[in-house]
Amino acid sequence: MKIIKTNTYEDMSRIAANLIASQVTVKPNCVLGLATGSTPIGTYEELVKRVKSGELDFSEVTSINLDEYKGLSPENDQSYRYFMNEHLFNHINIKKENTYVPNGLEADAVKACADYDAIIKKFGPIDLQLLGLGPNGHIGFNEPADHFVPSTNCVDLAQATIDANARFFSSIDEVPKQAYTMGIGTIMQAKKVLIIANGAKKAEIVKKAFFGPVSPQVPASILQLHGDVTVVVDAEAGKLLD
Ligand code: GLP
Repeated sequence: MKIIKTNTYEDMSRIAANLIASQVTVKPNCVLGLATGSTPIGTYEELVKRVKSGELDFSEVTSINLDEYKGLSPENDQSYRYFMNEHLFNHINIKKENTYVPNGLEADAVKACADYDAIIKKFGPIDLQLLGLGPNGHIGFNEPADHFVPSTNCVDLAQATIDANARFFSSIDEVPKQAYTMGIGTIMQAKKVLIIANGAKKAEIVKKAFFGPVSPQVPASILQLHGDVTVVVDAEAGKLLD
């Protein structure tokens, strides 16, 4: 595991974008696993700049997103499909038909998960998986649990996650209670993993996830067992690391 401590959110974003850009340059038809949340917004802004300047070409890239709220349509401005379009896909030359997000409108959870696993099987393994870190150590929407779930699953969101994500909704009651998420097994099969975190509120969980015991109670801790993980943090999120 490689840990890169940067000074600012902008530095973290630039370094994360460098690593993604290298992947796309070395393998133009690569499969990227992508994440939502506030952490990767700066990384996506950097990638957009580079595509606009002609430095970077996403025309052959396939993307597979980590997760989606169950019950939200792609047009809902809180859906993760909407987020990806707004922050990345609408501004780069990726083909929209090559971008995948779980279908939040599929009410049948077994079908939604099986359909997404079929997509992952068709295009995977993921070449580079970008991850943010939930305040409770979740990756994607894989919440603390008694075991690591291998494949796409429907999760009941932890209260901590509902509370943390309420800031994006007009009231906490509007936060969906369930989501579809790529499984931990799929994330672990990615050839490379890039995880980013910023801000003082992530400092404790960064230390716990990457230097504490590996446990499904801290889902990101399993990344300690992956052979090619890069953690990029800003000074605040990395302040408890030596
Ligand atoms: C959400 C997403 C995660 C994300 C996490 C952290 O719940 N499902 O993929 O990493 O929250 O979000 P933020 O980057 O806003 O701290």
